[in-house]
Amino acid sequence: LASREFLAGLPKAELHMHLDGALSPAMMFSLAQRNQVKLPYTSVEEIEAAYQFKNLQSFLDLLYQGASVLKHEQDFYDLARDYFAKCKADNILHTELSFDPQTHTDRGIPFDTVISGILRAMDDAKTEWGISSKLVMDFLRHLSAESAMKTLEESLPWKDKIIAVGLDSSELGHPPSKFTEVFARARAEGYRVVAHAGEEGPPAYIWEAIDLLKVERIDHGVRADEDPQLLDYLQKTQIPLTVCPLSNVRLCVFDKMAEHNLFSLMDAGLRVMINSDDPTYFGGYLNDNYFAIADAFPLTRKQALLLAHNSFTSSFIDDVEKQEFI
Ligand code: ADE
Ligand code: ZN
Repeated sequence: LASREFLAGLPKAELHMHLDGALSPAMMFSLAQRNQVKLPYTSVEEIEAAYQFKNLQSFLDLLYQGASVLKHEQDFYDLARDYFAKCKADNILHTELSFDPQTHTDRGIPFDTVISGILRAMDDAKTEWGISSKLVMDFLRHLSAESAMKTLEESLPWKDKIIAVGLDSSELGHPPSKFTEVFARARAEGYRVVAHAGEEGPPAYIWEAIDLLKVERIDHGVRADEDPQLLDYLQKTQIPLTVCPLSNVRLCVFDKMAEHNLFSLMDAGLRVMINSDDPTYFGGYLNDNYFAIADAFPLTRKQALLLAHNSFTSSFIDDVEKQEFI
């Protein structure tokens, strides 16, 4: 079996992590003071105590409220810098982090402010710590397709710095089909494409993400196991699923870790790997997710190696660069 030491030492990539979801309660509290933003909390402990979620929406409400403390380029830098320090500690050699521009542009923060701070932290992480990273731009699916299209257009001057577009936020009631044109335009502009699907939403949303958005990777996708034909398709095509164990338990997708379907997806031959999603909200960074799985299941070294291997093969690093990692 894989010990904690073995898991911590494994070289890993992370492919599903939202930058706003890496804002620690301590940084939220200090940025609120620095930027004079009012929060409904009087201490860091109160923030931590508020993190009890009954579903995805109850979490998103607090995520977007927390993100309101981010105002300046330096704030986005500090946030990303904090995450990269955790990457270093967790032996993450490559990360594909996502950001949600609309969370910020909708409250008047310029797109350029957000992305400049993130890119500066990505450069520094590479230079100082040798951590490779790529940036994914997610659209908020509870907002309109027009708003997503406007965001896509705003991103075009930066398109060489953004590897892919994705889709996140409230899944139920906002199927991938709502964004067919936006994703077609994004692909035409040269972006790779991913989407959250099958987290709370049904297998039909995973099919739509594949057939209409033409995604190369599914974020979450754990509800695929309700559709045998879909499982078969995912096995044959090896479209990766970026699974997030602690997130799924904290958002009540599974009642407890012992009920998670990571192993049944692996046993069905799907290409899956482990990710942290929103580490400061769900009680752990990437290694904590590996540990939580290893605590609930007999995780062998071979299985752990396969998960870590899949994290690199499912990444958007080009084939030449991939040789360095696998
Ligand atoms: N935004 C941040 N984390 C998310 C998740 N797990 N699902 C949908 N949207 C998100
Ligand atoms: Zn996510």
